[in-house]
Formats: sequence, structure tokens, C-alpha cells
Amino acid sequence: MNGRPVGILGTGKYVPDRVLTNEQLEQMVETNDEWITSRTGIKERRIASDAQASSDLAYEAAVQAMAAANVTAEDLDLIVVATITPDMAFPSTACILQEKLGAKQAAAFDLSAACSGFIYGLANASSLIASGLYRNALVVGAECLSKITDYTDRNTCILFGDGAGAVVIGEVPEGRGFRSFELGADGSGGELLRVSGGGSRNPVSQHTIDEKLHYIYMAGRDVFKFAVRIMGSAAEEALRKAGLGKEDIDLLVPHQANIRIIQSALERLDLPEDKCVVNVNKYGNVSAASIPIALAEAVEEGRVQEGDVLVLVGFGGGLTWGASALVW
Ligand code: UT7
Repeated sequence: MNGRPVGILGTGKYVPDRVLTNEQLEQMVETNDEWITSRTGIKERRIASDAQASSDLAYEAAVQAMAAANVTAEDLDLIVVATITPDMAFPSTACILQEKLGAKQAAAFDLSAACSGFIYGLANASSLIASGLYRNALVVGAECLSKITDYTDRNTCILFGDGAGAVVIGEVPEGRGFRSFELGADGSGGELLRVSGGGSRNPVSQHTIDEKLHYIYMAGRDVFKFAVRIMGSAAEEALRKAGLGKEDIDLLVPHQANIRIIQSALERLDLPEDKCVVNVNKYGNVSAASIPIALAEAVEEGRVQEGDVLVLVGFGGGLTWGASALVW
């Protein structure tokens, strides 16, 4: 990559206290723990309180990441929030977060690339630092998916949860930091995973509410097939661009949508499970927040050492995908 070397200076995460278990879901829709566990690997997920919005979750994760990076709010030049559940249509959740943090010097914007949003955010923010325009950026994935989930639809309500993960990125010593980004999109698959109500195509009306267009719609099986194909190929492409091979990977940090999708990526990359972060059992799919939460947990658990090669990889609505190879 061109320009100054840029890497992750600190990580943070936050998940709400409230736990929604498979057993509780059995009381809500026609499902059972055995089906959910065997098809998805999910046992429970976290649910925000009525009072919590995505910026509240983002704030907690950001404060941790800033402390870990030893960076103050005034040191931030840029805030990027990747989310599909912004607090409101506008102002952006990044601007709301900027105000909460007191990051007066920071430019701020939201980024919409669904579950790939955090990788897209890293690519954008790191380029602005590598170019010399900015010094420090806060990149957050924050979601309150429970607020757009239909808890009468068993196809989707078992999957999603709430949470936020954050990183501070900045200049790092030569040889460390982000080595490549692989971003992609296929708009022809947009219909497969969407919330179609409430935008300029279908403004909120009694009709959009009656038709439940304000909730997530997903063609699960089609998204599954796409995910299995793209996780491996995006990770391989990120490695190739970085001049690295599968054997160089110390830790894979994949989007946490479904344990079967993660396992297929491990097979394709010839990686043992202990070289992969898995927390889908605890949090379900938290869209843009999945990867930074998983990364923050790996750091907390001491699984990431200086010089390690990490590959972050995700896919999601859009359709979109993103991967990055980096040296810690
Ligand atoms: O972040 C990116 C977005 N999302 C994803 O990555 C999700 C990708 N897709 C998936 O993970 C999987 O497709 C699901 C977990 C959503 C579904 O698993 P599947 O193995 O693809 O199941 P299916 O959709 O093919 O459904 C199999 C059966 C169906 O019954 P019939 O039609 O075969 O009689 C469903 O109605 O399972 C039924 N089913 C359920 N049964 C019990 C669907 N949801 C449930 C449920 N409990 N919650």
C-alpha cells in the first residue's frame, strides 16, 4: 500500500446487558434450540434497551478504544461509523458520536455497507491517514439490529443482535499495519437482504408498516451461498495483494453470521479452528459490529501478538464484501 504505514492503535467493544437466549425465542416463534444451534451456531444474543440507540453503544466501544490507543477526543481527526441502524436518518450517527465524545476537531460521517461496513470504514479512514490528510481516526461498527428485526419472523429473528466495536487507527512503524484491502459489491443481489421501507422509495406510511417493510427481509439460503463463496475468495485476494499466503495467517477475524459459513472459510483457507475468532454463539450476527467486537475480544484474551498476520473478512447486504490483511 502507498503512503505512510497505518495500523490499529487500540480496540474496544460494548454489548448491552440484556441476553436473549434460544430458549426465550422458543416462546416467541415456532423454533427450537437444536435447530438454531445446528443451523447457525448461535446460542444467545444481546439486545439494547428501549433507551439505547446505536450511538450509545458506539460511545462505550469508542471510549475503550481511545483509552487503549492512549488517544484523547481532541486527538481524533476523523470519525467513521459503519451502521445500518443509525440513530436517525440524519444527522449521522458519527456526528452524534462526535458530540458525545467531545471530538471537536474530527470530521464525521456514516458509512452504509451492511456487514462489510467496518472493513469499508477501515479502508477509507486508513487511506486518509496514509495520504497525510489526517493523523488519527476512530472507526466504529455499531448496530441495534433488534430495532429492525421482526420478532414474529423465525427466518430472521433468531440471527441478529446488538453491539458495537471500535478501533483507533493511526501511523505505525514501517512493516506493520494494513497491508491490503479487498472491497467489492454486487448490486444485482440487493433484493436478497434489505430494509425497503422508510427511505425515499417507500417513505413511511401505513402501507409500509402494514407490510412490515421497516424490518429486515432476507433470502437466507441465497445469502448463505454467496457468503460461502465470497468469504474464502475475498480473504485469498486480500492475502495475494499483501504478498502473503494462507500459511502466513496467525488469526482470522471473520464476520460472525453463521458458524457454518465460518467453517467453510476455514476449510478453504486450510486453517485450524484455533486460528479463528468465533463469538457468534454469544452475540449472533451484529452486522457491521461483528468484526470489531471479535477483534476486541481477541485482543482482550491475549490472542494477538506484535508481528502477527491478521485477516479480517466480511460480507453482507448490498451485496458487499470486504477483507484486509494486516500485520499487528
Ligand atoms: O450478515 C449477513 C447476512 N446473513 C447471513 O449471513 C445469513 C445467511 N443464511 C443463513 O445463515 C442460513 O440460510 C439460515 C440460518 C438463515 C437458514 O439456514 P438454512 O440451512 O439455509 O435453512 P433454510 O432457510 O433452507 O430452511 C430450512 C427449513 C425450512 O423449512 P422447510 O421449508 O424445509 O420445510 C424453514 O422454514 O428450516 C425452516 N426454518 C426454521 N425452523 C426452525 C427456518 N427458520 C427456522 C427456525 N426454526 N428459526
